[in-house]
Amino acid sequence: MDDIIQTLEDKRAQARLGGGQRRIDSQHAKGKLTARERIEVFLDAGSFEEWDMFVEHDCNEFGMAEQKVPGDGVITGHGTVDGKKVFVFSQDFTVFGGSLSAAHARKIVKIMEQAMKVGVPVVGLNDSGGARIQEGVASLAGYADVFQLNVLASGVIPQISVIMGPCAGGAVYSPAMTDFIFMVKDSSYMFVTGPDVVKTVTHEEVTHEELGGAITHTTTSGVADLAFENDVDALLKLRRFMGFLPSSNREQPPRIETLDPEDRPEASLDTLVPSNPNKPYDIKELIEKIVDEGDFFELQPSHAGNIVIGFARMGGRPVGIVANQPMVLAGCLDINSAKKGARFVRFCDCFNIPIVTLVDVPGFLPGTDQEYNGIIKHGAKLLFAFAEATVPKITVITRKAYGGAYDVMSSKHLRGDVNYAWPTAEIAVMGSKGAVEIIFRQDIGDTEKIEQRTQEYQERFANPFVAGSLGFIDDVIMPRNTRRRICRALTLLENKKLENPWKKHANIPL
Ligand code: HXC
Repeated sequence: MDDIIQTLEDKRAQARLGGGQRRIDSQHAKGKLTARERIEVFLDAGSFEEWDMFVEHDCNEFGMAEQKVPGDGVITGHGTVDGKKVFVFSQDFTVFGGSLSAAHARKIVKIMEQAMKVGVPVVGLNDSGGARIQEGVASLAGYADVFQLNVLASGVIPQISVIMGPCAGGAVYSPAMTDFIFMVKDSSYMFVTGPDVVKTVTHEEVTHEELGGAITHTTTSGVADLAFENDVDALLKLRRFMGFLPSSNREQPPRIETLDPEDRPEASLDTLVPSNPNKPYDIKELIEKIVDEGDFFELQPSHAGNIVIGFARMGGRPVGIVANQPMVLAGCLDINSAKKGARFVRFCDCFNIPIVTLVDVPGFLPGTDQEYNGIIKHGAKLLFAFAEATVPKITVITRKAYGGAYDVMSSKHLRGDVNYAWPTAEIAVMGSKGAVEIIFRQDIGDTEKIEQRTQEYQERFANPFVAGSLGFIDDVIMPRNTRRRICRALTLLENKKLENPWKKHANIPL
């Protein structure tokens, strides 16, 4: 018995040391935490239960039989975040560069399968050189097994990836299929092929950082949702982020106590919208003034800034916010903003999170660049996502709601539950000037006539009352009361039941 306990202790000590002190020091020298330290920062103290600490790889090629580390480069198990259960895997770069062997993959698959059974999110802390080169196709098979589980778990449990080191080749595709990707600045990167291959194939010279660093993916590509300063910053913000999510699609998102009164008026909102319709204002000011304690967890702030997405709470209930941003491209919809918004709406719908949509949209962005790149198909993604969503949908039109974009932005016609407009709302096919130049083309050149017609059109349509008279909006509300009216609507919709017709799955325009 004593021998066994000693062996157990030895194996545990060996597993905890991973690839050895030298490699741990090297990890620290790069400003990175080790896989175990990351788990400690992320989970509630003392809550982690490790699984499969003694799993070893079964590869005998290239002298691997003599190089076995208990755990095989990934730490898996479960714990809690603010008392809520979560499964986690954390790749250990000190063991064969965190590369994925067949055994390493089996450990990840095991916790994912269990997480689906018990309805608990999976968080992956990725730091890996990709497929374990010594294992060849066995490691490719391991990746495919993980991919398959990512797909089966999608929409069942939240899946979140944090990229905390290299992530190349197949290693990017598992995160790509999870719901959210967070990166760490300067120490993480993601690409399908690295700078050397890029140079050989396309003759482009590009650094790791330029090709797939955190800034690239949170600004240009939109692959990642947020970039954090360092490991600790990322893990602490991730803890806060988890608080908005239900554990699975079978649960409601967690409601918490708030000291912020649901009926808090906000008089400054009455003057938020400038009287000049071409003057922008910051939609984030509206968001921060209506949500609990001004606390808005924005996602993808530096990508497609013409649409703002993120989580907040209203009356203690998590909500997903989707808002046009007049400060960027006048808030119009384009390819990137449609894709960004659509994926977020679908996440909220998967996990029972009500959607609050704030509308100030002049239409879709015109131009050959947009048309050639498929704005028709990509814009349809957002339309499809809103139309498909069955969660409570509350919409407030603050100013412009023009053309097709009016329909898209969670309008009454797409089963919006509660649709409000501010008195400053202009719900029309297009702006007055554009409309007059089309209807009264013969008068172009006669400035006085055009101005008069524009004025007439403006008075007739640039208001919320035509839509109101048709029942397309439920009420015109004072901006100062927006928080109260949304909170009441959320209470009203708590037991909303709406189902789409049975189908295998819909065919969203991908
Ligand atoms: C086995 C690996 C490894 C790998 C790194 N190591 N990657 N071992 N398989 N894929 C080992 C190194 O041998 C080294 O071991 C240790 O990890 C640290 O690696 P370094 O190169 O010293 O670290 P660094 O300079 O920080 O560079 C990190 C790296 C680089 C950029 C990740 O190691 C690298 O380019 N690795 C190969 C990446 C790759 O091509 N992977 C296969 C992708 S293809 P020692 O003993 O010295 O500590 C793929 C296909 C999947 O993933 C397809 C699925 C569909």
